[in-house]
Amino acid sequence: MSKVKVENLTKIFGRNPKGVLKKVKDGISKDKLLAETGHTVGVNNVSFEVYEGETFAIMGLSGSGKSTLIRCLNLLNKPTTGKIIVDGKNIVDYSNKELKQFRKNKVAMVFQHFGLFTHRTVIGNIEYGLEIKGISKKERNKIATEILSSVGLEGWEDKYPNELSGGMQQRVGLARALANDPDILLMDEPFSALDPLIRREMQLELIEIQSKLKKTIIFITHDINEAFKLGDRVAVMKDGIIEQIATPEEILTSPASDYIREFVKDIDKTRVLQAKHIMFKPSALVTPRDGPKVAVKEMQKNGISSLFVVNHERILQGLVTIDDTINAIKENQSLTDILIHDYHTTGPETYIKDLIPNAGSTKYPIAVINENNKLLGIIVRVSVLSSLV
Ligand SMILES: Nc1ncnc2c1ncn2[C@@H]1O[C@H](COP(=O)(O)OP(=O)(O)O)[C@@H](O)[C@H]1O
Ligand SMILES: [Mg+2]
Repeated sequence: MSKVKVENLTKIFGRNPKGVLKKVKDGISKDKLLAETGHTVGVNNVSFEVYEGETFAIMGLSGSGKSTLIRCLNLLNKPTTGKIIVDGKNIVDYSNKELKQFRKNKVAMVFQHFGLFTHRTVIGNIEYGLEIKGISKKERNKIATEILSSVGLEGWEDKYPNELSGGMQQRVGLARALANDPDILLMDEPFSALDPLIRREMQLELIEIQSKLKKTIIFITHDINEAFKLGDRVAVMKDGIIEQIATPEEILTSPASDYIREFVKDIDKTRVLQAKHIMFKPSALVTPRDGPKVAVKEMQKNGISSLFVVNHERILQGLVTIDDTINAIKENQSLTDILIHDYHTTGPETYIKDLIPNAGSTKYPIAVINENNKLLGIIVRVSVLSSLV
């Protein structure tokens, strides 16, 4: 379901943005517009939709318009033109009063440089939004204390921001945003100022928090690895426009432009692609009732030396090899008699990175199964290897 829908959003900075809108629509370059009119295009005719509960990452180099865009989403920037529809209402039309309500209840922002109140303690920062809402001291302390522990800040209640490391400060920033229980979390490069190690820790923390809270998150980053790690879908921005919106694996496998191709060149695909992306439907399957003769025929027809055996619900029973099956015909054995089980299985969400050790050491395909042991697909060694290039 759509939570946020942005339609043809443009934000131009300068004295008379609407006055230069036509030039921008006609395709004048950013540099030329600046030179001729002194106006800067921040965001240029951008449209996208974010679904409820989704983490939507917006990735782009510095100056590509990411902050301008995300600041439009809570109207810290007033769009020059375009619609921003949240829960079916165009927030660009909001009165001051409606906007206040919107910011109080529906949306919260986490900033790159934390933006904490230096004169307030950790708990005081987290309580801030609740105070604005007029929630009683006792109640807000209770809520803030809960949130505080969910972001790993127990024991730090009474410290001031300047007594905290960057990572800890951003935990406070996140806790403050979450305290209001907003539907939508806007995060503008929240981890960019942190050391790599702390940054990874925070990314994992956010994934964990999100798996519980299921907010709608719009997450800005200039780091494609971070975008791919966190984003269910990723929008790639360049010069104020969105070049591509797709899932990380779609961007990896079919980049929309040379620019994006260049970007993803250095990505470690094995950390993005999952079993379900490289598995395929087995060319042949048999059920135990089919018997060895049918199994041999299937293997010969398909040029394979082993075959997965499933029941009528496609539940995996085991695997038979060509040698055993030919022997079974002579010995009058059934397929059930010669099933083997020393192949690898995996879930559909397993990253290729974690399949590589198995793929290298097995002579049989890897079976991709769901939690009921149903066979979803198979992965052969060569698909794992070819996903690496
Ligand atoms: N308040 C402003 N006044 C004028 N130009 C601005 C303003 N804010 C941003 N810009 C310009 O808009 C463009 C996009 O900037 P920004 O959204 O900050 O990019 P990003 O967050 O991707 O680094 C840049 O060219 C920037 O100089
Ligand atoms: Mg920015």
